[in-house]
Amino acid sequence: MSDLNTHLGPKNFSDKFALNFTKFLRFLADTFFKKRYGHRAVVLETVAAVPGMVAGMLIHFKSLRKMEDDRGWIKLLLDEAENERMHLMTFIHIAKPNWIERFIILIAQAIFIVTYSLIYIISQRTAHRIVGYFEEEAVRSYTEYLHELETGKIKDQPAPDIAINYWNLPLNSTLKDVVRVIRDDEAGHRDVNHNFANLIDSRTSIKKTSNMTEEKVEIKNSNEELKK
Ligand SMILES: [Fe+2]
Ligand SMILES: [Fe+2]
Repeated sequence: MSDLNTHLGPKNFSDKFALNFTKFLRFLADTFFKKRYGHRAVVLETVAAVPGMVAGMLIHFKSLRKMEDDRGWIKLLLDEAENERMHLMTFIHIAKPNWIERFIILIAQAIFIVTYSLIYIISQRTAHRIVGYFEEEAVRSYTEYLHELETGKIKDQPAPDIAINYWNLPLNSTLKDVVRVIRDDEAGHRDVNHNFANLIDSRTSIKKTSNMTEEKVEIKNSNEELKK
């Protein structure tokens, strides 16, 4: 299991943009949902399942265009989207969204698909960093939800069958157990996406180093030519 409370400190403009974008959306979610954790989960999981699908699709097309291997990224991203959709399928049994929330879901999906696609096309690294930070917040929110369930402020209830089957939980599991496994999933997505952003960094620095080496070789060769 991933460490639950890790936070990746921002190191450059891309990280800071990703963190501030996340904090802004967190503020909106906190203001709107307050402590209605079930409703919050339903609405936010409809958004959480978007990035994996968008990123998977864009990498798929890039792989076709450039005839390049995807290094296993597409499968990981589509699995993430599927997993997030299963979070939604679970929480829909816990909280039924009202008409305002259904309207927000429609608008949010339209805006988020376009925004995330644009961010991904402009800076793939920033896009993965954003999801890394989203998932840090998701872990925090589910920890708060779990605390409310453990202290009895929110009444616990039997786990929905869909969750028992999907996560292979014991038959007598409750919502608390479901929130724990979902929180573990979120921590997993956080690590995968932060690692993707880090991998893009290391690819860029390898490219820079090899370009510099090529330049040095060229300069050396032209110096030798001049000496002749
Ligand atoms: Fe989720
Ligand atoms: Fe998530």
